[in-house]
Amino acid sequence: MFLKLINLTKLFDEKNGVVDVNIDVMEGEFVTILGPSGCGKTTTLNLIGGFLKADKGKILLEGIDIINLPPEKRPVSTVFQSYALFPHMNVIENIAYGVRFHRKEKKKKALNIAMEYLHIVGLDGYEKSKVGNLSGGQQQRVALARSMATNPKILLLDEPLSNLDASLRVKMREELKELQKRLNITMIFVTHDQSEALSLSDKIVVMDKGKVVQIGTPTEVYFSPANEYIASFIGKSNSIEIDGETFLVRPEDIDIMINPKGNCIIKDKIFMGQHTEYMVSNGNGNIEVHLSGKENTEFQIGCRVDLKINNKIKLSKVKGQA
Ligand SMILES: Nc1ncnc2c1ncn2[C@@H]1O[C@H](COP(=O)(O)OP(=O)(O)OP(=O)(O)O)[C@@H](O)[C@H]1O
Ligand SMILES: [Mg+2]
Repeated sequence: MFLKLINLTKLFDEKNGVVDVNIDVMEGEFVTILGPSGCGKTTTLNLIGGFLKADKGKILLEGIDIINLPPEKRPVSTVFQSYALFPHMNVIENIAYGVRFHRKEKKKKALNIAMEYLHIVGLDGYEKSKVGNLSGGQQQRVALARSMATNPKILLLDEPLSNLDASLRVKMREELKELQKRLNITMIFVTHDQSEALSLSDKIVVMDKGKVVQIGTPTEVYFSPANEYIASFIGKSNSIEIDGETFLVRPEDIDIMINPKGNCIIKDKIFMGQHTEYMVSNGNGNIEVHLSGKENTEFQIGCRVDLKINNKIKLSKVKGQA
């Protein structure tokens, strides 16, 4: 295994921190740590980066425990949410700084390497620009280039897209994925955005309250969530009782059929563009149904309907670490 976190533990006090985090990362893999605010994502990254001292555990990189190495001795680079660029340096100086500091290259060679990475992130022509004059997306690219140019074995990214507006976020997400595959960089990416995690990752590590609660591919965590919490955190789901058993049913796995004698009533609808969200009462509670396609925008509030469940997840059967 390329990187192995073994029982990594750091407690700030009785309740806060991370406990017994076990994660395996393969070389070239894109691993996302996903979880709500305060679940321990940044703490885990900071332990890998060496910015925090672990109470317990091992960080094996290619079989060697790096847990006692200071941050600058670890072959790891971090892209922070705030970018942390140097405001008094221009773009190329920012990128070259990392190369000189970490790779101990002379100024000229460092500038040449920095130019290569400026090109990789699509910022040719911006080398002399002040970082303060760049847009959020451009600053993000400089931060990425600065980290990548240090040639780390592992790139850590802590919510790097969260300062960008929605459309730029999606664009940068695609660029990041493309770069990662093209350059075969091992990345550990932190986010609390499930769509980012699902679209980018080879593997998702779901955390809750300082613990890893499931590790799997995006399809595994989406279609076989280890528990109700994960199901509700990754996508939406309904908890529905069928023949005395409780199942999780995704809103997109239900169809609506008009039936004047039906047992269910449409209580509310919201048009979202790519789909329409219906809230349907079945007498016991509300069930959320998402339908795509123009013809499915036409069911009216107050209509009596039947629901057809096309796929259900049995909770007792789901697999995971929890
Ligand atoms: N230096 C610290 N001292 C004390 N408590 C801390 C410290 N750093 C983090 N914590 C606590 O540890 C828990 C995990 O924090 P962490 O920053 O890892 O969360 P996170 O998952 O990154 O959240 P967010 O999505 O909000 O960034 C939180 O409850 C936090 O308040
Ligand atoms: Mg954080």
